Amino acid sequence: MDDAIDVRGIRKSFGQVQVLAGVDLTVSRGSVHALLGSNGAGKTTLVTILATLLRPDAGTATIAGADLADDPLAVRRRIALTGQSAAVDEVLTAEENLRMMACLRGLRGRAARQRSRELIERFGLADAADRRVKTYSGGMRRRLDLALSLVVAVPVVFLDEPTTGLDPRSRRELWDVIRSLRQDGATVLLTTQYLEEADELADMVSILRDGRVVAEGSPAELKRTVGEDVVEVRDAVGTVLHSEPTDGTSAGLRRALDAIDAHGLSGEVVVRRPSLDDVFFALTSHTQSHDTTENPGDQAGSLASAERIPS
Ligand SMILES: Nc1ncnc2c1ncn2[C@@H]1O[C@H](COP(=O)(O)OP(=O)(O)O)[C@@H](O)[C@H]1O
Ligand SMILES: [Mg+2]
Repeated sequence: MDDAIDVRGIRKSFGQVQVLAGVDLTVSRGSVHALLGSNGAGKTTLVTILATLLRPDAGTATIAGADLADDPLAVRRRIALTGQSAAVDEVLTAEENLRMMACLRGLRGRAARQRSRELIERFGLADAADRRVKTYSGGMRRRLDLALSLVVAVPVVFLDEPTTGLDPRSRRELWDVIRSLRQDGATVLLTTQYLEEADELADMVSILRDGRVVAEGSPAELKRTVGEDVVEVRDAVGTVLHSEPTDGTSAGLRRALDAIDAHGLSGEVVVRRPSLDDVFFALTSHTQSHDTTENPGDQAGSLASAERIPS
């Protein structure tokens, strides 16, 4: 079997609240897979379960060939997990943090030093390697956190909202790092609230909502369901007067603006990209219109089965 991650029917409730209601997810080896969902959708809960740190109520999972329930130790050896809170020691430098982690992971002397240097270079921390971590920016901390989780190379990397709270530049730097992980052959499961991030990085995207994967596809397939970027003309109170599709290129933007001029419209002109909300909206209105004919009144049920986005 060539899948790096295979998840079947994972359920989890906290008290009366069901957070995961039967999650199915397959991630191909060597791919970057984005788990997209709004705040509170259950992304962290799922990743924490897959990383063996929380027991599911039901369901099974295989990670890099190891069964989550039968052999959690083997799973742990094959994964790295980076969460939202950095597990770095503030008073140490990046290099000291990495050497300490290398020692914890059984590397000694020269091997520990060498691995630390490699990771420092790779994660763009060379200039700051000798500074205490408390002087680092959010983006630098996040990169160091990721480096720490990769002191021992592993086939599967979980990144839980790696760029949340970062400024645009740090976000882009982290994106580069994630792309380089994939180039080295790692499988990456990353969670995000940003459609744009999934679009930039992911080979495949699964949308988590109401405790289930409600849609799955490549970023291009997902975007097709919500339509493309549009240039909108709005009046003073924000009402959309006209909406012109565009393709994200400067030539396309020029064409859209020409078309708007040709209509003789004036107002505030904005470029709008589809957001996660637009995807949800497109999905719900789509499933709703499906269901009203066959299954009236069962809107929750309409989201129950994962839907393959038509390409
Ligand atoms: N240990 C816990 N005890 C009780 N409720 C929890 C616990 N962990 C998460 N939750 C709840 O589960 C839901 C999903 O949380 P989480 O997995 O963190 O979502 P996400 O990472 O997508 O933002 C939230 O409503 C959260 O309050
Ligand atoms: Mg979370």
